[in-house]
Amino acid sequence: MARQFNEQQLRVRPSSREEAVVASARSQFERTLVRVRGQVVGSVAALEHPEKGDSANYGEIFLRDNVPVMIYLLLEGRYEVVRNFLNTCLELQSTTYQTRGVFPTSFVEERGELVADYGQRSIGRITSVDASLWWPVLCWYYVQRSGDVEFAGSQKVQRGVQLLLDLVLHPTFEGTPVLFVPDCAFMIDRPMDVWGAPLEVEVLLYGCLRSCCRLMELAQTHAMSRLLEQRLAITRQWLHDLRLFLLKHYWVTSKTMQVLRRRPTEQYGDRQHENEFNVQPQVIPPWLQDWLENRGGYLIGNMRTGRPDFRFYSLGNALACLFGILAAPQQRALFRLVLHNRDHLMAQMPMRICHPPMDMDEWVNKTGSDPKNWPWSYHNGGHWPSLLWYLGSAILLHEQANPSADVLLMGQMRALLEDCYWSQLNQLPRQQWAEYFDGPTGTWVGQQARTYQTWTIVGFLLLHHLLRVKPDDVLLLDLKRTTSDNKKAAASAAAEKH
Ligand code: GLC
Repeated sequence: MARQFNEQQLRVRPSSREEAVVASARSQFERTLVRVRGQVVGSVAALEHPEKGDSANYGEIFLRDNVPVMIYLLLEGRYEVVRNFLNTCLELQSTTYQTRGVFPTSFVEERGELVADYGQRSIGRITSVDASLWWPVLCWYYVQRSGDVEFAGSQKVQRGVQLLLDLVLHPTFEGTPVLFVPDCAFMIDRPMDVWGAPLEVEVLLYGCLRSCCRLMELAQTHAMSRLLEQRLAITRQWLHDLRLFLLKHYWVTSKTMQVLRRRPTEQYGDRQHENEFNVQPQVIPPWLQDWLENRGGYLIGNMRTGRPDFRFYSLGNALACLFGILAAPQQRALFRLVLHNRDHLMAQMPMRICHPPMDMDEWVNKTGSDPKNWPWSYHNGGHWPSLLWYLGSAILLHEQANPSADVLLMGQMRALLEDCYWSQLNQLPRQQWAEYFDGPTGTWVGQQARTYQTWTIVGFLLLHHLLRVKPDDVLLLDLKRTTSDNKKAAASAAAEKH
């Protein structure tokens, strides 16, 4: 059955200025691209950045901010820029003993020299783990789209992959498949009590390992050493264990909560336990009941002994769909939850980064009274337009992969997405493509928001591309697809042409 959404379901008025807005976003985006040693390598974080010499670093090329940039360039067929970006990051992969294998958070050219930040130059001297985990994912997207398997099989890429895997696949004190990180190690890069095994990092770890496998499989076609074979086997096992771990400990629904409330505590010994992390029922927050309603589900923010983080993080949940951690019925439970909570998550400016915000006491204790993360601001319940396209892609990919599943729900999701798209289209140009929005409804431009923020602009362009230009392109993001799936798709597209 053709999946149609009913235009009457729209809450936001479509705009006749669509083409003009898209054209102006495109030209702003071109301005964000910068050259390093004469070649275009990527985008600055925001166009309106302070002059050099100032300590703020929005004029640098951030790896995480360049994720949507690179995906957009791939969809536009501008492979050379993506390759330059991947090569520059590879060149900057750390070789010093204590951080060997880590990719930089950001880099910039200063007086002809490449200067990278691995955390040693950042506010708070924080570590960013997500940048490193994104690199293989982007590399795999590039190889998949451009067909440049030679690059994938090259010694420098294979070496980079091994160095990165060394950071993950080694013995640890816990012996679990998760990566343990300090506070501030990902997009949320100021204290927010997100230390331990935060969802976004673990989901990205999954995407990273999956992409590393794909890249190693391509080395296989050139001669595969025994060592590489072993690495591949260990990585596959790790992937499998990590997915089970996340589904077991992070996935919650109304049903699982009922069980959780009745679980025994204080369990000791090596029998298979129901409550391995000794979570007391009292820690279950009251807002969860309405939030989950009957048929919603989501991955919670973090699992730690006795102290799970029940907050909802938009990016980790959207990526869990794209990377195939959540099975199709779970993805639909997540979509139901988003629909049920749309007044929170989307409100005036889609979409909220994390819900609910910490209240005043928690804010004092957990953020160290960070004024930027005041309740309803920035990372603490703020709204980030750059996040919408990730959830949008998850919805569109689900539609492509399961064309006849729950037509009613998916029609509502499509209408929701259209609404959100129009909200952004109507507001963002006037608000100068701001970085983030504050307040319970996300109406106010963030107090310290930059303007002409690259991922706000390119996130909008990506959503426009997937909704209006070439919906099939969402398949690029599907990490479950193998090289042979891609070959089949290319062959059937070629056959259709004749
Ligand atoms: C802020 C954000 C971070 C982003 C950076 C550059 O620090 O928290 O996620 O990468 O700005 O835009």
